[in-house]
Amino acid sequence: MRASEIREIFLKFFEKAGHTRVASSSLIPFGDLTLYFTNAGMVQFKDVFLGAEKRATTRATTSQKCMRVSGKHNDLENVGHTPRHHTFFEMLGNFSFGDYFKEEAIAFAWEFLTKTLKLPKEKLIITVYEKDDDAGKLWLKHVSKDQIFRLGEKDNFWSMGDTGPCGPCSEILWDFGSGKITKKDLESDRFMEIWNLVFMQFNRGADGVMTPLPKPSVDTGMGLERLACVLQGKKNNWETDLFTPIIESIERVTKQKHDASQENAVAMRVIADHVRAASFLIADGLLPSNEGRDYVLRRILRRAIRYGRKLGMHKPFFAAVAETVMKEMGSAYPELLQHKEIVVKVLTNEEERFLETLDRGLNILEEEFKQLQKAKQSIVPGEIVFKLYDTYGFPKDLTELIAREKKIDLDEKGFEEAMQKQRERARKAWKGSGSFKVEPVYQTLRLGGLKTEFVGYEKESDIGEILGLLKEGKKIEYAKKGERIQLIVNRTPFYAEGGGQVGDTGIGLTEDIELEILDTQKPFPDLFVHDVKVVEGEISVKDRVNLEIDRERRQKIRCNHTATHLLHAALRQILGGHVKQAGSYLDDQYLRFDFSHFEAITDKQLADIEDLVNKVISKNIPVKVEVLPYKEAIAKGALAFFGEKYGDVVRLIQIPDFSIELCGGTHTASTGEIGLIKIVKERSVANGVRRIEAVSGFAAQEFVRGREFLLKEENQRGIETEKQRQKEKEEKSKRMQAALKNADDLLKKIKEIHGVKVLAVQVLVADAGELREVADAYKQKMGSGIVALGADTGGKVALIIMITPDLTKKYSAGNLMKQLAPLVGGTGGGRPDMAQGGGPEIANLPKVFKRLEELL
Ligand code: SER
Repeated sequence: MRASEIREIFLKFFEKAGHTRVASSSLIPFGDLTLYFTNAGMVQFKDVFLGAEKRATTRATTSQKCMRVSGKHNDLENVGHTPRHHTFFEMLGNFSFGDYFKEEAIAFAWEFLTKTLKLPKEKLIITVYEKDDDAGKLWLKHVSKDQIFRLGEKDNFWSMGDTGPCGPCSEILWDFGSGKITKKDLESDRFMEIWNLVFMQFNRGADGVMTPLPKPSVDTGMGLERLACVLQGKKNNWETDLFTPIIESIERVTKQKHDASQENAVAMRVIADHVRAASFLIADGLLPSNEGRDYVLRRILRRAIRYGRKLGMHKPFFAAVAETVMKEMGSAYPELLQHKEIVVKVLTNEEERFLETLDRGLNILEEEFKQLQKAKQSIVPGEIVFKLYDTYGFPKDLTELIAREKKIDLDEKGFEEAMQKQRERARKAWKGSGSFKVEPVYQTLRLGGLKTEFVGYEKESDIGEILGLLKEGKKIEYAKKGERIQLIVNRTPFYAEGGGQVGDTGIGLTEDIELEILDTQKPFPDLFVHDVKVVEGEISVKDRVNLEIDRERRQKIRCNHTATHLLHAALRQILGGHVKQAGSYLDDQYLRFDFSHFEAITDKQLADIEDLVNKVISKNIPVKVEVLPYKEAIAKGALAFFGEKYGDVVRLIQIPDFSIELCGGTHTASTGEIGLIKIVKERSVANGVRRIEAVSGFAAQEFVRGREFLLKEENQRGIETEKQRQKEKEEKSKRMQAALKNADDLLKKIKEIHGVKVLAVQVLVADAGELREVADAYKQKMGSGIVALGADTGGKVALIIMITPDLTKKYSAGNLMKQLAPLVGGTGGGRPDMAQGGGPEIANLPKVFKRLEELL
């Protein structure tokens, strides 16, 4: 039966028995500070056992990725030397959360092994906790008395770590041999533990005190590798189909045979185990470095590299081994395939890096061994171990491993002292990060060892332990509701302002504390400071707070950051390679990018730049993030900026075939998330430096919509003005028509004064212009005579006098107007044939006509 079939049969069996199939959780336990790596199936259910988390189901089954390389469960040293120890392994498990207990757990296990898998009953040996009478009795239903052994706490009381859920357990062992068994035999290789049934009953606190769990529960774990070994009739796990394809791939690339020697076998087994583990760790987000979990990854990789050297390998070859791991396990654990590229890159990079110093380090060690032999000593001095660590990248356990092969020990104490001395030197040489003034209090904290791990590339929330509180530049121990303080935690998902990107905001919560995080800054690259308002409760140093960034805001920031990279690349394509970043700023609202360029940018260029960026956005290209040595990044063509500080190891952000930049900021997973960018402003900010401001995503949409709105408004105004004009025109023409229609009637009003036809009347018009037109028309009709018209033009009198040319020798319109206009309180004048005037007193208009007659 292939391992993949065993995995499936197991999960199906428990599904049938009412268990929900739950996916394996990450190897990196989420939000659990008590554990480096997920080391058992129950880790993801820890809070369920403790009663702190409720699940929809009370029965679950999993095939869980596990790592046992640190803490209470550490198998690293045994790997390769025993038939059945691994760093990474798969644990099959069934769980009861306050549902069934010992009786059913035992019955399920027995049924699965003996009925489903048809393993012979007599080959299964049971151990129970010596004080657990119940379990002992329950087993008697299935097996004979001489198959049951009672053991002490060391063997039959299980706990996850130093703290957490725990309880008595019962183990099922496979007997590779036959015949009589004593307790002591159980320790030998004749027996192999295959399944551990833990009866979860307690929670062990940090003080070691055990308190009962809310409900007794069950946690079982069976190593898939071991079960496969039994079912496939092998002597050890390495011969199962979980490892043979991997070992074969190692044989192919190294052109060596596993069976050629014990040394070869060990080397190949270690490499198979470690490359498999590393592939899973990288797929779960780890990258080798000198800190914490990342250092574990580095340690196992360097061990494997050294075993590769033993097989004569002088160049990287893990990629080929990892390919096999992915081929074999990718369908059960799709994350492997999803992150294939990065897995291969990181492995190869770590190999290249360490191969550069491995030989020199090994030579130093060989030399040292010779010296020791001469001096008849068997301890490698601490300084040598330290030098190998510090200069040649040899993790201490690797040096130990090599020394052990020669039966030589390490001077651990000397090594620790040398490490300590180096820390002191680093402290003395400390000058802060240099570019800006760091408040002394932060310097003091930093030197005191305070450090923040940034987890915000992967996580949007995480639990941080408060390491320090500050108020107005002074250290404090606690802070109350309403206070504004600064907070330093051991790890945070909050991005601290840097690289042009603003700091994150968000909240911090515990059961009775609520914090508002207003900003995040970093006085040192590894010391993050949160500017905080205590909204509820009282916080103290050592409190653990669940820190959660404002996710929506961060997403907008990501979009603007990735958009900035796209803009930069587009500027270089459209304007030329002389374009260099001179500064940038981006937040959740917009982005600003300053760059060198020595002439104005045309509208066409600007449109081309925008189009190019949007084209790359619409292609939805995955954004690649890589961490690698500075030199390699530069060799790949990364843009790096003068005036920026870069460490040995840098973060490379790539939008394949378009942009490649060193950057520590947060980015979208692919370009499509940005949606759209819109350049909103472009101008010169200094000699040879121009600035583009742009918006992206929803803000770009909003910007466009705003413009659209303005345009509509302007249009609307235009339309309305036009309409008004049209209306006025129509009214005027109506009036004119009316005036002219009335002309015949008016002509009846013509008087003769000294033989001169005189028309002096009030008419209805809108203004002086219209009055003139009307007067003109009447004049034409009269042929010879004097026309004097008055009109009320919105509270004012308008007057006009027109005289036909034949009469202008005798009469002057101008003179007449001069005398008439004062009658309405105004003035007027003009030529002999035409004069205009006006005044405010409408009521006096009749007087004007009367006076005219008199004057004539
Ligand atoms: N947690 C137990 C173990 O790891 C059973 O799964 O052995």
